[in-house]
Amino acid sequence: MILVLDFGSQYNQLITRRIREFGVYSELHSHKLSVEKIKEMNPTGIILSGGPHSVYDENSFRPDERLFELGIPVLGICYGMQLMALHFGGRVEKAKNREYGKAVINLEKDSALFSDTPDQQTVWMSHGDKVVQAPETFAVDATSLSTPIAAFSNKDNNMYGVQFHPEVRHSEYGNQLLRNFVYDVCHAKGDWTIENFIDMEVATIREKVGDRKVLCALSGGVDSSVVAALIHKAIGDQLTCIFVDHGLLRKNEADDVMKVFADDFNMNIIKVDAAERFLAKLKGVDDPEKKRKIIGNEFIYVFDDEAAKLKDIDFLAQGTLYTDIIESGTETAQTIKSHHNVGGLPEDMQFELIEPLNTLFKDEVRELGTQLGLPERIVWRQPFPGPGLAIRVLGEVTDEKLEIVRESDAILREEIAKAGLERDIWQYFTVLPNIRSVGVMGDARTYDYTIGIRAVTSIDGMTSDWARIPFDVLERVSTRIVNDVEHINRVVYDITSKPPATIEWE
Ligand code: XMP
Repeated sequence: MILVLDFGSQYNQLITRRIREFGVYSELHSHKLSVEKIKEMNPTGIILSGGPHSVYDENSFRPDERLFELGIPVLGICYGMQLMALHFGGRVEKAKNREYGKAVINLEKDSALFSDTPDQQTVWMSHGDKVVQAPETFAVDATSLSTPIAAFSNKDNNMYGVQFHPEVRHSEYGNQLLRNFVYDVCHAKGDWTIENFIDMEVATIREKVGDRKVLCALSGGVDSSVVAALIHKAIGDQLTCIFVDHGLLRKNEADDVMKVFADDFNMNIIKVDAAERFLAKLKGVDDPEKKRKIIGNEFIYVFDDEAAKLKDIDFLAQGTLYTDIIESGTETAQTIKSHHNVGGLPEDMQFELIEPLNTLFKDEVRELGTQLGLPERIVWRQPFPGPGLAIRVLGEVTDEKLEIVRESDAILREEIAKAGLERDIWQYFTVLPNIRSVGVMGDARTYDYTIGIRAVTSIDGMTSDWARIPFDVLERVSTRIVNDVEHINRVVYDITSKPPATIEWE
């Protein structure tokens, strides 16, 4: 395992990411980790990340410096290099201006870190302070015009430092440098695969749970589905899933979830048909925020009611991902997330959490799902909001309107699949705005609803662009919707990006 200590750089996740891509397991932890804890983890190498502080700031982050004496190879990146320099007696100077962007470095010495890379290479710099004098026992391995000590090392102690960021793609040979550190300096074994992860996690879950019982809220989304499949593989019938059908799901979705998990995987799964309960609560409500709140609260009530009927449950399984934990820093994020997700459970119900995906990135979770035998349509499911179709029926939600959205959405999904565009578009769905317009069908005048098509490309849902669906596909969708879905006489295409619009209409 390669241990990455977090000093707050925005690129930290990338370091862990890159190393796992080479087949070596890596974890990101707080810089506060004690040497005793580090010893317990027994890493083959340690990487000290970059960070926003100056080593001279009063409250700057400091590691347990005994880590330099463990005999474990250390790579210091940027701020991490400066910490290493100070520890071994070098000098770091406060800079007046930040150096930010691409720079060219020249290699001075043969260093294991730079093997198989050219003498001159482009790197990504992002730093204020810099090392101006290397420790006596260190050799300068690379220089750049503005950073004379761009890399240094003490080969005998396996200490390496770079002022630039090898984990950022703009560093031309950054990947090779990290690979050299991991394999040639640390002699790590490249045995990190999803198959190994499954074996490891199954054993861990079995040990932790013993003969006790686990509860999981299954939504049919990627994360909860993969968690359920993994835990089921470990403990079979000791897992019970609760699947709340709030009546706001897409066409055939509830049946499909039941088919996959109850029939194919043979899981204990309690399906709660709560459509009427939700619809009753939503009656007469047209404010989007109120709708969301009602659905969120009702979901928790329903889940609690069902959970309370079960006896002897000790654990609650959650699909928390690595990004959920580290996005807001390794210090506090874990509790914030868990609290958020379990917030609605009755106070007298004491569950221990199981979060077996909390070391994985989204694409690793997808691979895991595939290895566990989940179908593609679940593993690659497009994001679907918790409040479901209720926020795609604008204004008051009624049975009739839900049916219109459900049917038109199914047609859109079918045509997108036929055109082979499923993986190119981040999300695609239909919305029912609260407007009616005049049309003509046969020889008769109609006065009916308009349906909107929303399709966007995006990396993370934070920003998005409208998808350029080919006109012939749009034409087929439009014709089919108007012909087959009752009460629709007009189809429009939303061509707004986010911002200024959002992806959903409510
Ligand atoms: P917006 O509409 O804010 O959506 O651009 C961004 C992404 O988040 C999804 N979304 C939700 N997901 N619960 C969820 O789990 C929600 O209440 C919710 N609202 C929006 C949306 O589908 C898009 O992927």
